[in-house]
Amino acid sequence: MKKSLAIITILILCILAISCGGSFSSKEEAANVEETVSNEYIVVGFSQLGAESDWRSANTESMKAAFTTENGYKLIFEDGQQKQTNQITAIRTFIQQEVDYIVLAPVTETGWDTVLQEAKDAGIPVIIVDRMVDVSDDSLFTCWVGSDFELEGKKMAEWLKQYTLKEKIEPSDIHIVNIQGTIGASAQIGRTKGLADAATENGWDLMAEVTGDFTQAKGKEVMESLLKRYDNINVVYCENDNEAFGAIEAIEEAGKKTGSDIANGEIMVLSFDGVKEDAMNYVLQDKITCIAECNPLHGPRVKAIIEALEAGSTPEKYSYVDEEIYSASEVVKNLSLDGTHYDVTILTQDIIDQRSY
Ligand code: AHR
Repeated sequence: MKKSLAIITILILCILAISCGGSFSSKEEAANVEETVSNEYIVVGFSQLGAESDWRSANTESMKAAFTTENGYKLIFEDGQQKQTNQITAIRTFIQQEVDYIVLAPVTETGWDTVLQEAKDAGIPVIIVDRMVDVSDDSLFTCWVGSDFELEGKKMAEWLKQYTLKEKIEPSDIHIVNIQGTIGASAQIGRTKGLADAATENGWDLMAEVTGDFTQAKGKEVMESLLKRYDNINVVYCENDNEAFGAIEAIEEAGKKTGSDIANGEIMVLSFDGVKEDAMNYVLQDKITCIAECNPLHGPRVKAIIEALEAGSTPEKYSYVDEEIYSASEVVKNLSLDGTHYDVTILTQDIIDQRSY
C-alpha cells in the first residue's frame, strides 16, 4: 500500500513539475521527490551482529535479498562487528531515524532491556532473528524467529551416542573437546548444554570447553593448544562450521587425521550449520563426520512477519525453523529424542548441489 502511495506521489509531483515548466527547477526539488519516495517504502533497520562465519554471510545475503526496494522496502543495514555496544548504538540510530521496524540479530542474549524499552517507547516494533534475547519483559520485542539451538546440540549428542553404541566404543573411551561459540550467544548456550547433558548422562569424557568465537582463526588456535594439552582427543565438537575448518587445519598440521574411524586413531569432527562450501563437501570426504543444520535463510521469514504486521495480524511470538542432521555414514539412520523421531539425512553430492548456501 505504501508503495502505491509512493507512485501516486511521484505522478502528482511530475504533473506539478510539468505544469510549472516541464522539469524540476532545482536539485533540491528533485531531492525532495526522492526523499518523499523513500519515506513511502517500509523502512527496516537491521542490526546484524557481525560477519564472523560463512553462515552469517549467507544470513546477511538472505536479509538483503528480501528487503529490496523492488519488494517495497528500504533496508538500513548495520554490522555490529561482534560488539553489543555497536548494536545498541545502531538501534538508537534507527530510533532517531524513525524506521518502521527494527530487526535485531543479537550477539549475546543479555543486556538489551534498556535499548529495547527505548524502541518500545518510540512505538517501533522489534523483530529478533536468529539468536534470542533474555529480557525481563518479553513485550519489549514483537516476536522472534530462529533455530532451536539446544535441540541441535541434543540431536548431535544423540547421533554420537547411537554411533558409538553401534561401533561398540565404550563411553569412557570417548574423549571430547568442545570448541564453543561466542560465550553468551544462544547458539553457544544451547549447543554446549546439549553436549554437556549427554556427556554426564552417558559417562563420556568431556575434557575441555573453550570458546572459538565461531571463527576459523580462533577455532584453529584453540585446537592447536588443545592438541598440545591432550594426546587422547578422539571427538571434536565444533559449535559451527568455521571453527571446524580451523580445527581440521590444526589437526592435519599436527600430523593427525580427521575421520569417523576413532577406534583406529582418527579424530572425529562434529559441526553445526551445514554451509555448502566447504562443510558439506568435507562430510562427503569424511573430514567432518556429522553436521546438525542451522538454517540461515531468515530474510523471507522476517519479511513474512512484517507483512503480517502490516496486514494487522499478530505473528507467533516464537517461530522455530525445522532443521536436519547430515552424515555420510550410514551407521545411524534415525534418532529418537523425547518421543520425536528425526531421520538422519545421508549426504550425497545431489543434496549438496541442491543447496543454495
Ligand atoms: O547464531 C547462529 C550461529 O552464529 C551459527 O551457527 C554460526 O555459524 C554463526 O556465527
